[in-house]
Amino acid sequence: MTRTQWIIGNWKQHKLRHEAEAFAKKLVADLPDNFMDREDALRIGLAPSFTALDVVRVWSRPAGPLWLFAQNIAAQDGGAFTGEIGPSMLKDVGAHGAIIGHSERRKHFQESTSLLAHKLKCALRADLLAVFCVGEELTARKQEKHEDVIHCQLAEGLGDLPRELCNERLILAYEPVWAIGTGETATPEQANTMHQCIRTWMEQHFGSRGADRSILYGGSVKPNNAAELMANLEVDGLLIGGASLDLTTFFDIIRLSIPGS
Ligand code: PGA
Repeated sequence: MTRTQWIIGNWKQHKLRHEAEAFAKKLVADLPDNFMDREDALRIGLAPSFTALDVVRVWSRPAGPLWLFAQNIAAQDGGAFTGEIGPSMLKDVGAHGAIIGHSERRKHFQESTSLLAHKLKCALRADLLAVFCVGEELTARKQEKHEDVIHCQLAEGLGDLPRELCNERLILAYEPVWAIGTGETATPEQANTMHQCIRTWMEQHFGSRGADRSILYGGSVKPNNAAELMANLEVDGLLIGGASLDLTTFFDIIRLSIPGS
């Protein structure tokens, strides 16, 4: 099975509505006309803030050039939960999916592993795409405990995921915390090894439907390292923070990630 390739820009708490709209409009206009006709077409996604989802939505559509993600999602679909935004609301605004378990959510907002497991089920049950992030801190890497940490995050996040929810809507992202926003990137070999470790765990738990999931790399991806990361067999795409804020830079990464470019 050919795994879907993704380039997703995570804008974090950046860009007002007019900036988000102008970016999306120009990005779509600049993509080659035949972009979607290629057999190996990459899927391009943007994850703006909740407040800019609707303006980016205008330029996005499934099976079209641009897919729309929220950066977070509630663990339930409605009720007395002040400040929360759940799957129905995201679908209502036109989002196709959500990022879940980003290390900034885990660290700054104390999102627990059990909460993340609920968010994941909630998103997948609503037929949204879910980009589930895992990644180790620098200390774990230095102590050579990185694989243990990833196994633990996978077990806690996906351990009780019903088998039928491990489907094509589940996307994984390996984002070593020491590489996020630091300018330090995992080497292609490190990324490959960790993606293999994730894939093996997924296969052991979900069989071939687990092994077939797309696994993205995130952490200081830039135009100067995107191609060599994407050239890795195990790397099915990129989750990009800082470098997705500037259109030219983001576009360069897209261009460099097209096979054979
Ligand atoms: P970065 O962020 O590309 O700025 O390192 C990646 C991420 O947080 O997803």
